[in-house]
Amino acid sequence: MNLDALILDAETAFTRALDAAALENEKARFFGKTGLLTELLKNLGKLDAVARKQQGAEINLAKTRIEALLNQRRQALADALLATRLASEAIDVTLPGRGIKPGSLHPIMRTWERVEQIFGSIGFALAQGPEIEDDWHNFTALNSPENHPARSMQDTFYVEPLDPNGQPLLLRTHTSPVQVRYARAHVARYQGGVMPPIKIIAPGRTYRVDSDATHSPMFHQLEGLWIDEQVSFADLKGVYTDFLRKFFERDDIAVRFRPSYFPFTEPSAEIDMAFGQGRWLEISGAGQVHPKVLSNMGLDPERYMGFAFGSGIDRLTMLRYGIEDLRLFYEGDVRFLTQFS
Ligand code: DAH
Repeated sequence: MNLDALILDAETAFTRALDAAALENEKARFFGKTGLLTELLKNLGKLDAVARKQQGAEINLAKTRIEALLNQRRQALADALLATRLASEAIDVTLPGRGIKPGSLHPIMRTWERVEQIFGSIGFALAQGPEIEDDWHNFTALNSPENHPARSMQDTFYVEPLDPNGQPLLLRTHTSPVQVRYARAHVARYQGGVMPPIKIIAPGRTYRVDSDATHSPMFHQLEGLWIDEQVSFADLKGVYTDFLRKFFERDDIAVRFRPSYFPFTEPSAEIDMAFGQGRWLEISGAGQVHPKVLSNMGLDPERYMGFAFGSGIDRLTMLRYGIEDLRLFYEGDVRFLTQFS
């Protein structure tokens, strides 16, 4: 009868029992009706009085020790079970609440409002036009030739059905049609009287079949138009250069007017800018409003003249904040957007 081995056996078995059920099974192996300890105690009866007394005492000691081991293990298993439950049901009271946080303006809207403010401060009124435009205002009135590539199905989103006059409808490809709409309404309003100058900007959404890091199918343009009897290309240069310096809050902006072609202006230019000695970046199209466009506006080209420009609001925003990928503006990722709040 090796009681030390028995105690060791119990200790190992209890430790290996990983839950209460397994532990109770092991308990039965020692204390059950035919358990190891029970058998030992039963056998005492066969011994003489002296041996019974001595061995009885030893067995009882071993029994007490094994009971203690059993209780220890029971406690440990119960503690572990409680700990896992506490961990899994824990509420982290230090987590921030889900309350509604104040929103912020989208970076493009910040530019939009800033542009309105700057041009407003030098007397430009705000004009608007429809985003679903008709072919005449978007192309024809702006002197765009019938076979101009921008008119193709590949470049432009056409909308069905045709308008009531049988004209194609499309998502405007630029904000320039607002020039024509505004000027015609203006001419009609002052018919027979003295006509004040037309001096507007028209910021708005525009659409093209185009999509990469610097082009998105929907983008924003800023149209400008100033028509009176003596509005020259020199005025365009002054106004636009001043706008860029105010917008970027820098005096070291170089501005360059590079000869270009647009059907609705003559002469036409591409406006490039550079920060200090940096590289040239194209920022706008511009020019003197073409006589045919003036006629389509209902103005006498012999009497009126002026300039127009069309700039990219998204481009202005990218340059102002140093953003490389235009698509970030349209993904709606708050981690990006909150950086402008
Ligand atoms: N509408 C032109 C475009 O989207 C931009 C533009 C160029 C507008 C010259 C103008 C202008 O008003 O004069 O590419």
